[in-house]
Amino acid sequence: MSEFTADGNPEYWTEYSNLQHVKHALIRNYLNGWFPKLALGPWGSSRLLYIDTHAGRGKHLKGQLGSPLVALRTLLDHTSRDKILAKTEVRFIFVERNEANLSALKSELAAIQVPKKVFIDAKAGDAFEIIDNTITSYDREGAWLAPSFIFVDPYGFKLPSKLLRKLLSYPKIELFVNVIWRELDMAVCQARSGNQELEGLVGTLNSIFDGDAWRSISADDPDERAVQCVELFRKLSGARWGTYIRMLDKNRVRYLLLHLTKHPDGRDLMKGCIWQACPDGGYYASKSDNPDQQLLIEPEPDLALLGNWVIERLRHGPKNWQFLIDELREELWLSKQLNEVVRSMRKNGQIIGENYTGRFAATNNPRLRLREKSGE
Ligand SMILES: C[S@@+](CC[C@H](N)C(=O)[O-])C[C@H]1O[C@@H](n2cnc3c(N)ncnc32)[C@H](O)[C@@H]1O
Repeated sequence: MSEFTADGNPEYWTEYSNLQHVKHALIRNYLNGWFPKLALGPWGSSRLLYIDTHAGRGKHLKGQLGSPLVALRTLLDHTSRDKILAKTEVRFIFVERNEANLSALKSELAAIQVPKKVFIDAKAGDAFEIIDNTITSYDREGAWLAPSFIFVDPYGFKLPSKLLRKLLSYPKIELFVNVIWRELDMAVCQARSGNQELEGLVGTLNSIFDGDAWRSISADDPDERAVQCVELFRKLSGARWGTYIRMLDKNRVRYLLLHLTKHPDGRDLMKGCIWQACPDGGYYASKSDNPDQQLLIEPEPDLALLGNWVIERLRHGPKNWQFLIDELREELWLSKQLNEVVRSMRKNGQIIGENYTGRFAATNNPRLRLREKSGE
C-alpha cells in the first residue's frame, strides 16, 4: 500500500459548484436505472459492485453529499430497494489515498445503517495500484469481476488506459471517468512541440495512452482535440461507446465526464441521464450556473435536426422504425425523441407507415418511407 499523501486540492471540498452538482446527478440518475436493470433483469446478477476509485471525504464542507454517499443513498432510497436486495447483494468499494479524507468518509459511513446484503469497504491507498493488484490476482485465480459501475474521479489527468481496458474486458462493467481535460490538453500540446526537455512528459503521456497514439490529438481547435481525446480513450479501453458531457468553466472545457461501455443499454441509459442534466441537448454543463436554481420552463430540444436525420436515413429507401432506433444509438438523441419526431412527420404527411398491424407505434415496427413529392 502506498503512503498517505496530502489532499492535492483541498479547495475542492469548500465549494459545491454546478459542475459537482451535475457530476453527482449523473451518478444518481444512472445508478437509479442500473441497479434494477442489473439485479432484476432476465439475467439478474447475484452480486453488484459500485467502485469509487477516488472516493473523497463523503461530504463537502457545506454538507452536500460526495459521490460515495450519493451512490449509497441511491440504492438505500430506491423505490425497488427491497426487490433489488432480495435478488442480489451490493458491495460498495471506496478507495481514498488521503488519510484525513478517508477518516471523514468513514465517519459519514458509520452513521448510516445499511440493510443485510449491502456491504461497504472503505480502503486506504492508491486506487490504480489497488485495482491493478486485485485484477492481477483475479486473473491468476481465474476469477471474474462482478458487474460493476466504476467511477474514476482523480484530481489530475493521469488515467491509465491499459487498466481501463483490463476492467472493460470483464463482462458488464461500466466506467464513468473524469478526464481532466484542460491539464491533459496542455500536456499533449507541450509534448507534441518536440522539446527535448519534455521527455518526462512524453513518458507520462505514453503511459496514460499505453503508447504514443496521443500524438494524434492534434486538431487546431481545442474542442475538436477534446473529441479526438475521448475517441482515443474509447478505442484504447475497448469500449463500444464513449458518451461524454463537457464541463465548462468560463466557456472553456475544464473536464469531461466520459462513460465507457460495451453495452447498448448502458449507452442508452447514460444518454438519457445527460439529456436530463442538460435538457437542451447541448451535452455540456457550466460552472457558472446555479445548481439550486429551478428552471420554470425547461428548454425545448431542437428536434428539427433529428427530422433531417430521419429524412437522410429514408432517402435511399424505406426502413423499419426499429432500424432507426438502433442507428440512433450512435447519435446523441434519445429514442423517445425519435418516436416523437416520427409520429409528427407521419401526421404532417412527410412519411408513410407500412406493413404493420395495430397502432402506428415503434412497438409495432412499421416500415417507414418518405412520401413522394407528387403526393399520394
Ligand atoms: C475529486 S476528489 C473525489 C471526489 C469524489 N469522487 C466525489 O465526487 O465526492 C479526488 C479524491 O481522490 C483522492 N486521491 C488522489 N489520488 C488518489 C489515488 N491515487 N488513489 C486514491 N485516491 C486518490 C484525493 O485525496 C481526493 O479525495
